[in-house]
Amino acid sequence: MSETDMRKTDVSDVDLADPVLSEGAEPSAADFETEPATASAEDVAELPGSASPEPAYATVRQPIRHDSAIKHVTGAAIYIDDIREPAGTLHLAPGWCPTYAKAKLGSVDLSEVKAAPGVVAVLTKDDVPGINDVSSAMGDDPMLADGEILFWGQVVFCVVATSRDAARRAARLARFEATPETPLITVEDALTADSHVLPEYRFGRGDVDKTLLNTQRRLSGSIAIGGQEHFYLEGQIAMAVPGEDGDMLVYSSTQHPSEVQHTVAKVLGLMEASVVVETRRMGGGFGGKESQANQWAALAALAAHVTGKPCKMRLDRDDDMIMTGKRHDEVATFDVGYDADGRILAVDLAFDSRCGYSADLSLGVNDRTMFHADNAYFYPVVDIVSRRLKTNTYSNTAFRGFGGPQGVIAAERIIDTIAITLGRDPLEVRKRNFYGPGRDVTPYGQTVEDNVLQDLVGKLETSCDYARRRQAVRTFNTRSRILKKGLALTPIKFGISFTLIHLNQAGALVHLYTDGSIHLNHGGTEMGQGLFLKVAQVVAEEFGVSVDQVKITATNTAKVPNTAPTAASSGSDLNGMAALIACREIKGRLVPFLAGEYGVQEDQIAFRDGKVIIGNEAVPLKEVAKKAYLNRIQLSSAGYYKTPKIHWNRDKAEGRPFYYYAYGAACSEVTIDTMTGEMRVDRVDILHDCGKSLNPAIDIGQIEGGFVQGMGWLTTEELVHDAQGRLRTHAPSTYKIPTCSDVPEDFRVELYESPEGNREESIFRSKAVGEPPLMLPASVFSAIVDALASIRPGMVPPLDAPATPEAIMKAVHAMRRGGA
Ligand code: MTE
Ligand code: MOS
Repeated sequence: MSETDMRKTDVSDVDLADPVLSEGAEPSAADFETEPATASAEDVAELPGSASPEPAYATVRQPIRHDSAIKHVTGAAIYIDDIREPAGTLHLAPGWCPTYAKAKLGSVDLSEVKAAPGVVAVLTKDDVPGINDVSSAMGDDPMLADGEILFWGQVVFCVVATSRDAARRAARLARFEATPETPLITVEDALTADSHVLPEYRFGRGDVDKTLLNTQRRLSGSIAIGGQEHFYLEGQIAMAVPGEDGDMLVYSSTQHPSEVQHTVAKVLGLMEASVVVETRRMGGGFGGKESQANQWAALAALAAHVTGKPCKMRLDRDDDMIMTGKRHDEVATFDVGYDADGRILAVDLAFDSRCGYSADLSLGVNDRTMFHADNAYFYPVVDIVSRRLKTNTYSNTAFRGFGGPQGVIAAERIIDTIAITLGRDPLEVRKRNFYGPGRDVTPYGQTVEDNVLQDLVGKLETSCDYARRRQAVRTFNTRSRILKKGLALTPIKFGISFTLIHLNQAGALVHLYTDGSIHLNHGGTEMGQGLFLKVAQVVAEEFGVSVDQVKITATNTAKVPNTAPTAASSGSDLNGMAALIACREIKGRLVPFLAGEYGVQEDQIAFRDGKVIIGNEAVPLKEVAKKAYLNRIQLSSAGYYKTPKIHWNRDKAEGRPFYYYAYGAACSEVTIDTMTGEMRVDRVDILHDCGKSLNPAIDIGQIEGGFVQGMGWLTTEELVHDAQGRLRTHAPSTYKIPTCSDVPEDFRVELYESPEGNREESIFRSKAVGEPPLMLPASVFSAIVDALASIRPGMVPPLDAPATPEAIMKAVHAMRRGGA
């Protein structure tokens, strides 16, 4: 389970040893902060500024607790490793060469591996009946190495044994004959060697060079932004069960069951129709299981194909960290022209991004960095270029924000640079550069139509008492020599939609049974974010029943086909709509039938309180379902949705790639110790826009979890590679993710109240929330910069991300010396 899940309920209320509990007697809802399904809708009925009173909702917009919250904390939730293994299940372990990051492979001696106890088979690329590739599209991700080693951790062979332990022991017994080559490890290595995994991409408007030449105030700078390991609590895992005719059933911890299905079919040379992939839940994905679950599922399926036995592949934590891709680390370099008030006139911005040995999702990820390099700010004249560098390191991939966060950090660094140089409060400079009337077109040509920044930031500025605290921080810093405080309030504007337009589609399948219970299935996957509950709320609302009457079921490629990954924060937008459409289809058959049966007008029929109101009668849904069945009315429907209004021509860099924007802002106060580099986050205030939240309890959890995860990325999580390209930080002992004790002691999270909610017709006017909050801790980073800047006013602290104690210490020394 993920960190957000853990904090959703008070674990101390649940006695893990209580035998009664494990037999299914759940603690009552009163034990938990959040409310059961029957919460009243009073709080949404009357809102300032809404012209007509809104309909009261019984289920959507209610703070209902996560459907699996209790199962998560009691261990009753079934993850893939908890599925009862069929008799004879075999286990896999990856075999790799721990010496090189780049080498030509000679012979690999597997004789000792094959002879080891418990070993049933050893798989190499020669065992692949189909295509030895697990990439999403580009064809450059060999499942098993093919003649060369391209990064430290590449899988060369795979052991299949009677136990996982036996497989892991045997995997170490291989002897490699290999000719090492010089690996490209860092961004600089790749730039020097002109090594690109994808062509560079550029967009902007106006003549930047000319504008910069003509501006009086001009600054340049750069910031290195670190990568990030996903550290999902459940590592990569899959179990494949062979069937008749070569059919394959694969349980996979994946955000993208359809792609796992396609990959398994491609690797085994099967029709897609012969492969079924099922995903009940992940213990966290965070983007790390969008494309990178493919390899492990395909290996399990290959083993099942070769041995005829069910086969399970579960990566050890170190292997998971060594072998799978992470957030792209990037170096952002900028040249900016601005006026005396700090208003930006022109920006020239370049990103050099370490993609690793293959393309993976690097095209979309780096495009999104560019789409968010403006964050909330209007750049009148702008040029943004992104270089996608090929290195001999693991293939970097999606990670919450999908490249956007790196763009946001660059934008905030530009603002901080201007403000510090001018000696202005950075918040003043931020506000001066916000999108606004007549300044509302992004560098990629989309007009910002739903801007709430001024209002949202204004409200937060007041509620967090910014002005007074700014003064208090100044006073503190003049009096305190060793400890320095910093304060920063940063905004976020995040584009919602896949920029690969065809992914913005979803399907759902809804059955109404004759006892009135409802079976719900859709293409979205549950990774702890509460998607299954949100979609169930939509269905419950439509049929006027409580969520308990809606059976949440595992994502399955045989029920809803050809789906998009659950990513880009769009899960509830897309699948919620598809499910809504399916429900309306069924109701659209029931209503005319009931109108005829009861002799009432169709508009006299409503679904609520578990009943169908038909004129003056209230008939239980189950009676209606039964009656409809006896009259041969179909009670099942598929629903299909595609996001309207969006289009994007990448070659011309024109269009409207995002259906809408999600907004938020955070104010963080930090204290740094200039003797040790230690940093403490004293207080955080967040105001975040979820439109009309589908579920405020879930959304606040997403905001808190996203914030803490982003804070980890920017302050403690550091990936260290040695000169040979070996990742030295491949376990929690050396790679520091945030823990409960890192959660800010004073942490105030509020949802932004907007009268109409989402301006666009999203599902019940809610807004996507999964990724945007990850960028709110830009305020923590800027607050550290603010604290450092107090050491020598006017000098921009040379601080890169992550701001570890070591990095802060280095910056302190530079500030004291007066130069980097
Ligand atoms: N929350 C939890 N608990 N676990 C996760 O793995 N992934 C994040 C976010 N929140 C994640 C999470 C990412 S990267 C995305 S894209 C969204 O959830 C995906 O789900 P959604 O579209 O339903 O919001
Ligand atoms: Mo999220 S990075 O889009 O899976």
